[in-house]
Amino acid sequence: SQEEMENRIKEIKSQLGSKLFIPCHHYQKEEVYQFADAAGDSLQLAQISAKNRDASYIVFCGVHFMAETADILTSEDQTVILPDMRAGCSMADMANIHQTERAWNTLQQLFGDTILPLTYVNSTAAIKAFVGRNGGATVTSSNANQMVKWAFTQKERILFLPDQHLGRNTAYDLGIRLEDMAVWDPIQHELLYEGPLEKIKVILWKGHCSVHEHFTAKNIEFVRKHHPNMNIIVHPECNHEVVELADKSGSTKYIIEEIEKAPSGSEWAIGTEMNLVQRIINDHPDKKIISLNPMMCPCLTMNRIDLPHLLWSLENIVEGKETNIIKVDDTTANEAILALERMLKRA
Ligand code: 13P
Ligand code: SF4
Repeated sequence: SQEEMENRIKEIKSQLGSKLFIPCHHYQKEEVYQFADAAGDSLQLAQISAKNRDASYIVFCGVHFMAETADILTSEDQTVILPDMRAGCSMADMANIHQTERAWNTLQQLFGDTILPLTYVNSTAAIKAFVGRNGGATVTSSNANQMVKWAFTQKERILFLPDQHLGRNTAYDLGIRLEDMAVWDPIQHELLYEGPLEKIKVILWKGHCSVHEHFTAKNIEFVRKHHPNMNIIVHPECNHEVVELADKSGSTKYIIEEIEKAPSGSEWAIGTEMNLVQRIINDHPDKKIISLNPMMCPCLTMNRIDLPHLLWSLENIVEGKETNIIKVDDTTANEAILALERMLKRA
C-alpha cells in the first residue's frame, strides 16, 4: 500500500542518513516531493548538486537532463540515480547533437565567428558540451536575462537552444526586436528569416515545452473576462503572445515568490506545470488561485517519478545493486562543465 511504501522510504532514509540525498524539482508529485531533502527549480537544483560533497547516492527526482547536470557537477565517487529512466524531457529531445553540429556548420558559413551558443539547461549533456567547447554557457529561466546580456558582451549574435520561447521572451525583454530574431528549424535544416542576414541578433532553435505550450491567448482572454481582478503570471516557456498578455512572467522560483508575497485575498491565474500550481494552491488557502488553463497541465515525464519507482531505486541501493545510474562520459562532462560554470559563477 501507499502507506507501506512511505514507511519503507522513511526507514531507508534514516538508515542511509547523509549518504543519501534526494533533490526534487518543484514539478514533482506530492507523493515523491514529501521526501525531498532539497526542493528547487532547475537553477537551484544545479547549485545544490554542485555543493553536495557528502552524499554517496543522489537520487534525483526530476528529469534526465537534471540528473545529468547533477552528475557533471558532483564528484567521481558520488552516484546519481534517476528513479525512472523514462523521465525525459520532450524539449531536451528537440535538439540532438547531430542536428546541432550540422546547424552550427551552416551558421558558421553564414555568419562566420560572430555567434555565441547558449543553451537552456533543459538540454542533453552532449548539447551542453557543444556549447561549452564553443565558448558559450548554459542558462536557466532564473538567469536567462543575465546570461543573454553576458553573451552579447562576447559576440554579436547568439544561437539559443533548444527553447525558442524562453529565448525570444528573454531577448525581447532586453530590447531586441522580434524582427531581428530568426528561427532555426532543425528538421528542415533551414534558417527561417525574411530580412537581410546581417540584422539577425538572435537565432532561436525551434524547440518548445509541451507543457507550457498549452497556455494560450484564449485562456488569458477567458480569465480577463470572467475574473477581472485576477493577476496572470506565467513561465517564460510560454509563447511570446501569452507572456506579453500576462501581467507577469518568470521562472518557477519567481512565480512561487510572487504569490508568496502577494496580499491575502489576491487572485491569481498561473500558467505553469500542474503539480506546482496545485502545491501553490494548497499552500495559500487565503488567496484565490487557479491554473490559467482549466485543464491543468501536467508534465508527463516528470510524473513518471512516482512512489514505487522511488522506493525501488532506494531498495536497490540498500541491496548494493544500484540501478538507473546516470553517468555522463568524461569527455562530454569536461566540456559541459565549462558551459555550466560560466553560468554558475554569474547566477
Ligand atoms: P525552471 O525550473 O528553470 O523554472 O524550469 C522549468 C522547467 O520546465 C523544468 O523542466
Ligand atoms: Fe521538459 Fe517542459 Fe517537462 Fe520541463 S515541463 S521537463 S521543459 S517537458
